[in-house]
Amino acid sequence: MTRNKPDKAKIVILISGRGSNMRAIIDACDRGEVLAEVVLVVSNNEAAAGLDYARQRNIDVFCLSHKAFSSRDEFDQAIAEHIKSYAPDLICLAGFMRILGAEFVQQFEGKIINIHPSLLPKYKGLHTHKRALDAGDQKAGCSVHYVTAELDDGEVIAQTQVPILPDDDEQALATRVLAVEHETYLRAIQSVLNATSS
Ligand code: GRF
Repeated sequence: MTRNKPDKAKIVILISGRGSNMRAIIDACDRGEVLAEVVLVVSNNEAAAGLDYARQRNIDVFCLSHKAFSSRDEFDQAIAEHIKSYAPDLICLAGFMRILGAEFVQQFEGKIINIHPSLLPKYKGLHTHKRALDAGDQKAGCSVHYVTAELDDGEVIAQTQVPILPDDDEQALATRVLAVEHETYLRAIQSVLNATSS
């Protein structure tokens, strides 16, 4: 994947909910801290709160409920076709709560990254904070990694640790981790873009 250096990289973001990581990416692009432009936000959930922000910023939004499709592959293919029409340099999963199948991932190999709220390879999948607390871990954090056909398994690009404190519950830990997610995601995006434009 190579780009002409003067061009801004085109980013597509996939969300299912709140969209705070999406917002951080859009804002960093606007401020010129990340040399890219968010060209499209995709969601499988029309009610995703983050969509309002994308619309306010005049970013194209594409919503498609997975419930309208009889198979994962058909849903994946429908969003893949739409995404391809934007010719993105990078696809950022930011709280996208659908597993993307192998065929989708292969079409965009090396161009899809995800943020996961654990210190991968620990705690792939859901309920990461509860699992870290139950295990008696002393630290938690977040990881940005390349997306492969295996869940939360691709190469880690950036990671940030936070301490787990004695009185933490899931909510307190989730809040502490989220506070470092945005910066971690921006660092990872810049690192991928630097690597692909050189
Ligand atoms: C974040 O905790 C992220 O690590 C996980 O889903 C959450 C999304 O939060 N994959 P937001 O929608 O970006 O606020």
